[in-house]
Amino acid sequence: MLCRTARCCRTFRYSSCDPEVVGKEMNIVLFGPPGSGKGTQAKKLAEKYEIPHVSTGDILRENLKHQTALGLEAKKYMDRGELVPDEVLIGIIKDRLSQPDCDSGCILDGYPRTKPQAEALEAILNKLGKTLDVVVNIEVPDAEVLKRISGRRMCACGASYHLLFNPPKQEGICDLCGRQLYQRDDDKETAVMNRLEVYKKQSQPLIEYYSRKGILVTVNGTAGIQEVFDEISAALDNVWPT
Ligand code: AP5
Ligand code: MG
Repeated sequence: MLCRTARCCRTFRYSSCDPEVVGKEMNIVLFGPPGSGKGTQAKKLAEKYEIPHVSTGDILRENLKHQTALGLEAKKYMDRGELVPDEVLIGIIKDRLSQPDCDSGCILDGYPRTKPQAEALEAILNKLGKTLDVVVNIEVPDAEVLKRISGRRMCACGASYHLLFNPPKQEGICDLCGRQLYQRDDDKETAVMNRLEVYKKQSQPLIEYYSRKGILVTVNGTAGIQEVFDEISAALDNVWPT
């Protein structure tokens, strides 16, 4: 397949086939509290940089949809807004990052969320001869998180909307596939409050961890979807020019 951006076909037939970027890859983590816009931004970035969007939440929900043992076990934690055990997540990420579509890098959404997960990620990438290039920390205050999550509506095709901030063209119907939209089970208020607590206790310390490694970029996640995207893109373009 011929490339349009940095996944180079090495034929140098396109102006974007810059020898500078041949063979380059970018591994990105999108980090932030629930509802900060990780999934929304990851989809747009995956399209721009032509690298896969790897969402651990989506992988777990897909397993649940197919009633796998993994999905049914994970549901117990997800419904309460708690983290699924590290060893389960580390296994998922190890498998996923070894797949060929991650050869040009990937955008991790929702992983890592604990220090053991972060350490395992480094070890997995090292073993594959890769490195983690950037961690984008999307900052959004709790009050905004609650507004966003209460208004979020999902589609089985993976599309995500917000009743006020990103509404579908026709109420309750997915723009992309026409299916009925639904609310996630863990978007109920008690689960959301617990997810926020869990984020603060178990995940937030990773901000300091990645800051010390010198790969953390913090963006203001309270701006509009396009503005946040532009800010993240500008930061990523510094790492990998398109
Ligand atoms: P996961 O699915 O990852 O949920 P989460 O981290 O709680 O994050 P969300 O998906 O709720 O929010 P988001 O940041 O993606 O925001 P979104 O773009 O949708 O994980 C679910 C569960 O799985 C966890 O609780 C845990 O149990 C388990 N799990 C997953 N990974 C795990 C791991 N590594 N370890 C252990 N357990 C794990 O946006 C939210 C809403 O806001 C949308 O409606 C959107 O349209 C809107 N919006 C987005 N951006 C903006 C904006 N800029 N302005 C206005 N509205 C916006
Ligand atoms: Mg998400």
